[in-house]
Amino acid sequence: MQTPFGTDLNPQLNASGELQHFLDTDGLNRDIIERILDTAETFFSPVDGKIKKVPLLRGKTVANVFFEASTRTRTTFEVAANRLSADVLNLDIGNSATSKGESLLDTIRNLQAMQVDMFVMRHAESGAAHFLAQQVEPHVSIVNAGDGRHAHPSQALLDAFTIRRHKPDIASLSIGIVGDILHSRVARSQVHALRLLGCRDIRLIGPQTLLPKSIGELGATRYHDFDRALEGLDVVIMLRLQRERMGTSLLPSQSEYFREYGLTQRRVDLAKPDALIMHPGPTNRGVEIAADVADGPQSVILEQVNNGIAVRMAVMSMCLGNRQKEAAHG
Ligand code: CP
Repeated sequence: MQTPFGTDLNPQLNASGELQHFLDTDGLNRDIIERILDTAETFFSPVDGKIKKVPLLRGKTVANVFFEASTRTRTTFEVAANRLSADVLNLDIGNSATSKGESLLDTIRNLQAMQVDMFVMRHAESGAAHFLAQQVEPHVSIVNAGDGRHAHPSQALLDAFTIRRHKPDIASLSIGIVGDILHSRVARSQVHALRLLGCRDIRLIGPQTLLPKSIGELGATRYHDFDRALEGLDVVIMLRLQRERMGTSLLPSQSEYFREYGLTQRRVDLAKPDALIMHPGPTNRGVEIAADVADGPQSVILEQVNNGIAVRMAVMSMCLGNRQKEAAHG
């Protein structure tokens, strides 16, 4: 992929094929994804259960640098780092020297001088995390918390983790991803992860203007008729309209969009009776999903949020654990 930061190399694996940065689900393999999900199981704490805290990252410093807004991703990375006993630093971008013109690289280099071991970064530019992975000191790991419309790999894996906890045989499932696929880093990362986990029936559902032309290359099937696409689905993943990434108006009106692509209870009943209803958040009720469906018995939206903690603990501990092994072996 060509990005504003250059060509897309895949520096997330070291010479032994182990995770050293976590940048994209594209370029990972099934073994690594399954190891992340299995490791996440060991960290999992139910919403109403006892919290598991472990000393794996004691003495390590994790910096959250979010150049775009976030509620779930930033806070669950922070909770995850705390549960791994790391020291956590949250850069307040709005009040940082970025507003005085400091470049991304200078900001990161200055934080690196404070002995940061891992940067968890969200950035509006596709490729920003890959770029940094090629610039930081060899012992430092970059975790991509969302870059432009390119990738959001930890979201994709927490979604796979959530699906697997309810329906372990992902390869046998029919999974629909619905809405603004064109601008969605989540959808792109989900398709790569689900394909690697063996899923053969991935349906990308939305209006012509919000489906990329290259869907076939991703290994998914295009649908415009939402009602028809729901037949036989085991999982329905709804996406937000990402108006901040739409240059021109790609939709007639919000009410028409909801009529054609909004997930209502009538539509939920067209999928399998035990279908999971998912959404990465933030949800826009009455735009892509009805409030009673978001809060209904088939919704696992808040489970996704909690599962994000375990999956992010797994990613961070694996990246920095592999770094420690590399250092020990010289
Ligand atoms: N799902 C997700 O990325 O949510 P936030 O933007 O709140 O982090």
